[in-house]
Amino acid sequence: MNKQKIVFYCKNCGNEHSKWHGQCKYCKEWNSLKEKKVSSIRFKSKTEFGNYFKKENIPLKMSEIDSENEIRMIVKDDEWNRVLGGGLVPGSVCLISGEPGIGKSTLLLQISMKFDKKVLYVSGEESQRQIKVRSERIGKGVGSTFILSETETENIFEHIKEINPEIIIIDSIQTLHSKMIDGSPGSVTQVRECSGELIKYAKNTGSAILLIGHLTKDGNIAGPKVLEHMVDVVISFEGDNNHSFRILRAKKNRFGSTSEIGIYEMLATGLREVKNPNEIFLTLNSSKLSGHAIGISVEGIRPITLEVQALVSKAVYGTPQRSSTGFNSKRLNMLLAVLEKRAGVELSNKDVFLNITGGVKSEDPSLDLAIVSAVLSSYHDTPLNEKICFASEIGLSGELRPVTKLDKRISEAEKLGYEVFVTSNFKKEFIEERNIKILELEKIGSLITKLFK
Ligand code: TYD
Ligand code: MG
Repeated sequence: MNKQKIVFYCKNCGNEHSKWHGQCKYCKEWNSLKEKKVSSIRFKSKTEFGNYFKKENIPLKMSEIDSENEIRMIVKDDEWNRVLGGGLVPGSVCLISGEPGIGKSTLLLQISMKFDKKVLYVSGEESQRQIKVRSERIGKGVGSTFILSETETENIFEHIKEINPEIIIIDSIQTLHSKMIDGSPGSVTQVRECSGELIKYAKNTGSAILLIGHLTKDGNIAGPKVLEHMVDVVISFEGDNNHSFRILRAKKNRFGSTSEIGIYEMLATGLREVKNPNEIFLTLNSSKLSGHAIGISVEGIRPITLEVQALVSKAVYGTPQRSSTGFNSKRLNMLLAVLEKRAGVELSNKDVFLNITGGVKSEDPSLDLAIVSAVLSSYHDTPLNEKICFASEIGLSGELRPVTKLDKRISEAEKLGYEVFVTSNFKKEFIEERNIKILELEKIGSLITKLFK
């Protein structure tokens, strides 16, 4: 029986409702439900394509299990290999998420062209011609990648069966649908079913699968949360659309650490690997301006030098404005309150604007000291010495707290030619002697006496 049924699905998160509501039950968005007619045929037995390739599974003793897990599919892209913990693992499923237009399709197309393996790139968003044009723009050789423009899971599996690729890229999982189940593409059930089948296929055949995932307005991966549990690796591709730098960051990795990041720059000819992050995050402006400070932050396990700019000016309106780009604004407020209470710097009648240059977002608490120094420098209108850099977290009582990976930070600062490294007290036995002066401070008050008086 093929009866038409009406469902309402949310434009924002894709969840389905049987009745119309003003607000989506799941993502709480208002006025986002849209009506859709669907046929309500239910198949009694689903043809599970993923199981088609199934090998027989028997319990094995741990000692009998072949530990071939060190096989990695390596490409000529160090950033990518590093984030994946040394390369893509056969039989693994990796989910790559990011904002629209950040460059997910570009990244995966570029990576696919670098593999010397049989790759199938399935796009539900672009036509074969569009992808070809893009690949020419990237211009990394024509590549032997197969391109398929298709959204129906069953058809995709037909082609997979024919081509038998070692790597399958799905752009994106939210565009796939299976005719075996109800629901529009991108709905929770469709995403779960289609990815479930693909995961089963990967596990049974040893092909690696890369899924591109969309983000919802609040920054979560669209579809069921369980998707992140089902896959082996979750990677986010981040950046600011107005800047060209992109950061690839592992959020979950069953085959490696999640503390690595990869940095790319988006150019007209595709994504370029950035081997030395400091080349892009620093303006290298030697003109002495107040309100600038250099912080040595660590993203993942890589030290990155960030430039902090602050502007402190007299508040025009009753309530002073505080605005922050690239740094948590709540934390900025906290730091300003600490400055006011513990160091007597009067900021309650001042507007404070803060910016981390290069469009970078950082959550490293060790940037606190650089931020406070930039604010103080602007407040006193006194430029800091350009050979000085900072790394320390600041506590609520104005104390400087120990930083992680201090040795890495100090060696990075030395490499870049800084002469003074300001930080909290630390245990000397873990730190190598280096050709850089280290200034240890205990309280925020001593920062003011040392630098501004
Ligand atoms: P895209 O990979 O389509 O993003 P996503 O799949 O994450 O939505 O890339 C989108 C942006 O990248 C697009 O706005 C233009 C830019 N871009 C370049 O700057 N250079 C290039 O070589 C390519 C292919 C894209
Ligand atoms: Mg895309």
